[in-house]
Amino acid sequence: MKEGDLDAREAALVAVAREAGELAKRLFSSPPEVKLKGKQDFITAADGEVERLIIERLKARFPRDAFLGEEGGPEGEGSAVWVIDPIDGTANFAHRIPHFCVSIALVAERRLLLGAIAAPMYGELYRARAGCGAFLNDAPMRVAQTSDMKRAIVELGWSARRTVRAYTGLVERVLDAGAIFMRAGSGALGLAYVAAGRTHGYCELHINSWDTLAGLLMVREAGGWTNDFLAGEAMERGNAVLACAPGLQEALVAATGVGQANEKLERRTS
Ligand code: IPD
Repeated sequence: MKEGDLDAREAALVAVAREAGELAKRLFSSPPEVKLKGKQDFITAADGEVERLIIERLKARFPRDAFLGEEGGPEGEGSAVWVIDPIDGTANFAHRIPHFCVSIALVAERRLLLGAIAAPMYGELYRARAGCGAFLNDAPMRVAQTSDMKRAIVELGWSARRTVRAYTGLVERVLDAGAIFMRAGSGALGLAYVAAGRTHGYCELHINSWDTLAGLLMVREAGGWTNDFLAGEAMERGNAVLACAPGLQEALVAATGVGQANEKLERRTS
């Protein structure tokens, strides 16, 4: 994509993330309409409303681009794809917990180009552009510089898409390696926190692309390490994710099993 085309998309992305965040904040102030899609898997009327706003705005500016929304699925044929989670942390939103965000990424030819995350209840807007750094409300972000697992906080995301035993095994190995774990219920914000140097790693054994891509770009642009999340069919089907401060890469790859060299090789040859 030409620089000028990317400049236009970056400006539109930041504006729409901000507007979508404000809409989510407004909707959060009334009791949410909530449905359960599966075990501990919620959807609210706000998810659909926010996603429609984002797609409408971006489509009006870039009618040839494609979209992959958490709620609406894939739409359009363009090689530039907007990957959208209208409300990440839906369970929090549904329970009136303010830890949620809007997450939007732009991918072209499987390359992550742009990402924005709006956390409206905190007044925070995170953004990144490939090769140009990552910012939190215009201040550059840097990942933590620690290499000491005994000081590390690692967020371990959970969903019913993997077994309880797989999750408790992961928790046990991360604790054994010396770190403490947390789970706050928004994968996108979990990754943004790693980029901002607030936490030291984020790992989940399966997560969808709309929860992940914007935050992954932020971690990379803030100097962090991530596994090759987009390998294989991750865009459509999701994948395991590990993102961390570079000093913890070796210890966390060993503890989580995500990002090992043979894992990448297997995917590339399949
Ligand atoms: C979920 C959250 C959660 C993560 C799950 C996601 P949603 O997304 O990001 O933290 O652990 O894998 O499905 O449902 O809140 O958009």
